Amino acid sequence: MSVLKLFHHILMLSVFTGAADGYYYYRWTQCIYSSPDLSDMVFIDGFYFNKYPDVKYNSTVGQFVGFTELGVKTAEIWNKNPEILQQYKAQVEVFCKPNAQLYEAAIYNKTVQPKVKLSLVMPGDSKHPALLMCSAYDFYPQPIKVSWLKDGAVVTSEVTSTEELPDGDWYYQIHSELEYTPTSGEKISCMLEHASFTKPMIYDWNPPAPEFEWDIQLIFTIESAALLLGIIIAAAGFIYYKIRSTDKILVPHLFTQV
Ligand SMILES: *[C@@H]1O[C@H](CO)[C@@H](O)[C@H](O)[C@H]1NC(C)=O
Ligand SMILES: *[C@@H]1O[C@H](CO)[C@@H](O)[C@H](O)[C@H]1NC(C)=O
Repeated sequence: MSVLKLFHHILMLSVFTGAADGYYYYRWTQCIYSSPDLSDMVFIDGFYFNKYPDVKYNSTVGQFVGFTELGVKTAEIWNKNPEILQQYKAQVEVFCKPNAQLYEAAIYNKTVQPKVKLSLVMPGDSKHPALLMCSAYDFYPQPIKVSWLKDGAVVTSEVTSTEELPDGDWYYQIHSELEYTPTSGEKISCMLEHASFTKPMIYDWNPPAPEFEWDIQLIFTIESAALLLGIIIAAAGFIYYKIRSTDKILVPHLFTQV
C-alpha cells in the first residue's frame, strides 16, 4: 500500500510542477510481440519524466528497473511487493493478449485484393526487346510476390521490380517490368501471390492486335466514312434542290403580295 501511495505522490507532484513549469510526467504501456500465436508477448510499463524513463517494468525480466535516483528507489520498493509483482506478471495474459487478439481481428487479419493492370511500356522492334509492366494497386497487407510466366514457366531473367510502395492510406502498390522478345504463339502472364488470395492469381497478357488487322480495320473505317460522306452530300444536294425549287414557286407568290 505504501508503494501505491508513493505512486500517487509522484503523480500529484507532476500535476503541480507540470502546471507551473511545463514538466511532463507520463506512463507508456506497451505490448510487444511478433509471433502470430502471441507466444512471444512482452509487457512493458514505463514511467517517464520529460523524455527520460524513471522506472520501467519488463515482463521478460519480471521486475521493475529504475533509471533515475528516484526511479531506482521506486523500483526497489515495488519489487519487494509481491502483490504488485503478481499483478504485473498477469498483464501479459489479461491485458496484452486479449487486446492483441481484438486488434488482429479488426486490422491485421484484414486483406484487400490488388487491382492488377498489365501494360506495354515499350513495343519491341527488330533491335529492341519489348517492355511489359505488371502493376498491382491498392492491396493490403504489404507482403506480395509478383512473378512473370512464359507459357506457364516462371521467368527470372530480365525482370525488374519495385518494392511495395506505401500509398500512405494503408494500401500498397508494386510494379514489375519484363523485357522480352515477342515470339508468335507464346503466352506471357503475370502471377501474384498475396494474403488476399487463396491461390496464386495469373493474369494473361493480351498483345495488341497485329498490324495487318489494324490496316483492315482502318480500310473499313475509311470506306464507311466515305460512304457516309457520300450519303450526306447526296442528301444535302437533294434538300438544296428541293428548297431551290420551292423558292422558285414562292417567288411569284411574293410578287403578288407586294
Ligand atoms: C525486456 O527485457 C529483455 C531481456 O532483458 C530485453 O531483451 C528486451 O529488449 C527488453 N524490452 C524492452 C522494450 O526494453
Ligand atoms: C489471424 O490470422 C492468423 C493466420 O491466418 C490466425 O492464426 C489467427 O488466429 C487470426 N487471428 C484472429 C484474431 O482472427
